[in-house]
Amino acid sequence: MTKAVFGIIGLGVMGSSLAKNIAGKGISLSVYNRTAPGEEKVVLDFLDEMDLEHVQGHLRLVDFVGSLALPRKIMIMVSAGPAVDAVLQQLQPLLDPGDVVIDGGNSHYQDTQRRATHLAKDLVHFLGIGVSGGEEGALTGPSMMAGGAADAYSIVREVLESMAAKDANKLPCVSLLGPDGSGHFVKTLHNGIEYAEMQLLAECYDLLRSKRSNEEIANIFDGWRGGGLDSFLLNITVDILRFKDGKDYLLDKILDVAGSKGTGTWSSQAALQLGVPATMIQAAVNARFLSSMNDKRKEYNELRTHNSTDGSIDAEALKQAYTMARIINFHEGFRILKAASQEYGWDFDLSEIARVWTEGCIIKSAMMQQLTGVLKQTDDIFRVTSFRDALKNSSALRVTLQYGVSNQVPTPCLSAAMQYWLSISSESLPANLIQAQRDYFGAHTYKRNDRPSSEDFTTNWKTHG
Ligand code: 6PG
Repeated sequence: MTKAVFGIIGLGVMGSSLAKNIAGKGISLSVYNRTAPGEEKVVLDFLDEMDLEHVQGHLRLVDFVGSLALPRKIMIMVSAGPAVDAVLQQLQPLLDPGDVVIDGGNSHYQDTQRRATHLAKDLVHFLGIGVSGGEEGALTGPSMMAGGAADAYSIVREVLESMAAKDANKLPCVSLLGPDGSGHFVKTLHNGIEYAEMQLLAECYDLLRSKRSNEEIANIFDGWRGGGLDSFLLNITVDILRFKDGKDYLLDKILDVAGSKGTGTWSSQAALQLGVPATMIQAAVNARFLSSMNDKRKEYNELRTHNSTDGSIDAEALKQAYTMARIINFHEGFRILKAASQEYGWDFDLSEIARVWTEGCIIKSAMMQQLTGVLKQTDDIFRVTSFRDALKNSSALRVTLQYGVSNQVPTPCLSAAMQYWLSISSESLPANLIQAQRDYFGAHTYKRNDRPSSEDFTTNWKTHG
């Protein structure tokens, strides 16, 4: 058999979908999956299903590596973490200088940097590429965020572009966004933004559900699709709300405990490290953690005063509140990306990141499409007229939050949006008192608003005043 152009290691849900995507483009492909107990037939089943002449599969890694044309192009699609290191450990001795290895999982960007350095010792290229879109995206066209060296990217670019989703201008939603771990960093932030987008929809559903059926909520969300609010996550939420399990709605039978695999936490950690607010991402991560405390939630629920619900929420106000909160989420997200770009020297093109996120990925939306243009003009999205108008209309968010508090509906992410907006638009914050407290107990010094900012002051607070 002739040597294959591209290789994939790991035929889990994402790996096999990407493999089918590539094979469907007529690109010659070789696949490998470990033959651990329970996985002995994965490769054979895949080959049976594909039944294409230009697809080959191997049960031994050495045969798989030997089946690839030089320079080899190998994409690893295994669970992020130790599994990636385990594969690389076996793979590295079999490779030649100039080969390109891609990690397409949700890896931590610092792991990617470490792995790239290690492989570079053998002159093997390593690209960290975040792949978004779930199973369907992987199959029909994912959004891919690449990080690494330009010469390595140029070797795999054609294959990646053929498998990627296409944007409104038919351009592939894949791009080399920066060097080393930057692609995985962008994917991590994509997921952080995704967490907040999902939590916002969950809170809107929660605010509506005491007075409306799932079908009525679906109809309200359906009505939001126009007017700039269309998004993949809104669309799937409408489908979910309408999905029946026999006579009942399936959603009503799903345990209210949200899982997470770590990228929301990593986004939060990265933002904290950079000293940039990520209030909405962090609220969304914490909301998932709180959901998992279901025993405690039941126990403490007895302490609540159970008031009857106070009217029903104004759906139009909720829509406006949701719009404003989404703008703030994107504002925070792109500020974190900008800060990372400056701190790590990645030189991100924020508009290009938004463009890569317009199709194929979980956070694709009409607003992301708008941001592609916006971020060409400014990296501060609050400067855009339509977003400014939404921010000026913060009364809708206020009314929504008041309804939530009166009716004991938790709204951590909507509240985080409001608090971010109140702080970022406050001419005067009580940070003067924080500075005084710091100086009081630790002589940390402070600046005065009536003196030049170059001067620092400290006061012996116990003896004066
Ligand atoms: C994507 C998703 C995906 C992620 C899931 C689950 O872009 O296709 O972000 O990469 O793994 O959303 O993430 P959690 O388990 O942390 O919710």
